[in-house]
Amino acid sequence: MAEATTTAGLRNVVAGQSGISSIDGQRGILAYRGIDIHELAERSTFEETVFLLYEDRLPTAEELAAFRQDLTRERGVPEPVLQIVRSLPAATHPMTALRTAVSALAAYDPDAEATDTVTRKRLALRLVAQAPTLVAAIERSRRGQPPVAPDEALGHAANFLFMLTGTRPEPAAERAMDVALVLHADHEFNASTFAARVAASTLADLHGAITAALATLKGPLHGGANEAVMRTLQEIGGLEKAEEWVKRAFADKRKIMGFGHAVYRTEDPRATHLRRLSRQVGEAASQRSWFDLSERVEEIVRREKGLFPNVDFYSASLYFVMGIPIDLFTPVFAVSRMAGWTAHVLEQWSNNKLIRPESEYVGRSGVRYVPLEARG
Ligand code: COA
Repeated sequence: MAEATTTAGLRNVVAGQSGISSIDGQRGILAYRGIDIHELAERSTFEETVFLLYEDRLPTAEELAAFRQDLTRERGVPEPVLQIVRSLPAATHPMTALRTAVSALAAYDPDAEATDTVTRKRLALRLVAQAPTLVAAIERSRRGQPPVAPDEALGHAANFLFMLTGTRPEPAAERAMDVALVLHADHEFNASTFAARVAASTLADLHGAITAALATLKGPLHGGANEAVMRTLQEIGGLEKAEEWVKRAFADKRKIMGFGHAVYRTEDPRATHLRRLSRQVGEAASQRSWFDLSERVEEIVRREKGLFPNVDFYSASLYFVMGIPIDLFTPVFAVSRMAGWTAHVLEQWSNNKLIRPESEYVGRSGVRYVPLEARG
């Protein structure tokens, strides 16, 4: 057996095989099932991307229409789960509410404990379909508003915005959300996907694995960064203050949210599209100032530290000008990543091996047990 080595944070450790998405961190390339993310961002839709992630190929027109229908049919959330959402205090973080709701869904889904491949895939797809319904219900519940029923005529992205606001979105907003969902759908062995795979590898249930993923996504070093980015932009407060703020943050050894990446050593290819969308949507809404501030911060961070923006940096200003509440940014990420998480769990189960690494023990050895009465 090879000698064990320890790598902080498992950085540069290949922890398993996957055929779902690939990253070349040196060259800034991301591909889903071999298709470059730039092509998907420009030409695909979320529904088509989910099909691709699940089936390892693009659908025919007929298959895509049927797949859209399947997703549309599965959007409903059982009333008792909506009641659980309503029973949470209004100040509950929406990621906490989402994690709780997804866990509760298992109790009301007759397929939750299924072990056959066909039912498990249907269950996975149902979670993809239900995620926007849950996030919209969470948002409306804390505002004291009743949930908006899904609109069967609308696609995944448009229906999500409709359920959030009660108004059908403009085509530009629909497309911006659709592209954002495509861009966030999968990202290899990121922390939340790995958490889902660890849970799934014990043969725990799908909802449990996704609950673990949601808990992991919430942290500001992972999906929670988009929320943290917006709070940073607000804290900076204006273009003219950016330079001083960034320099002070570096001097104080503060991490600037939305920059740096565990794998990319160049620009995150997703940031390229989110930068463009943030500018376009900001201009259309006559609210370019958040994009301008973001661009200024990027310039300074690149110049001072050579760090590149990641997926979370420009998604923050994009979602903000789209009117999405700041603490809902990470749940929006989750709505998309549900596709990747579930695809990874299905892949894990297709060739399962319990994920169980070892630790390097750095504690004391040979310590004697001291009886309670003899301890000073
Ligand atoms: N702001 C300031 N400095 C940063 C930074 C950031 N956002 N990201 C990395 N660095 C610095 C580190 O402090 C470290 O400096 P050092 O060598 O002087 O200690 C160096 O760059 C290497 O970074 P490191 O933290 O080792 O990289 P990592 O692979 O462990 O971390 C992240 C990756 C994502 C955790 C890290 O870049 C980060 O915390 N970013 C902000 C949170 C974020 O946007 N997360 C979303 C990721 S998609």
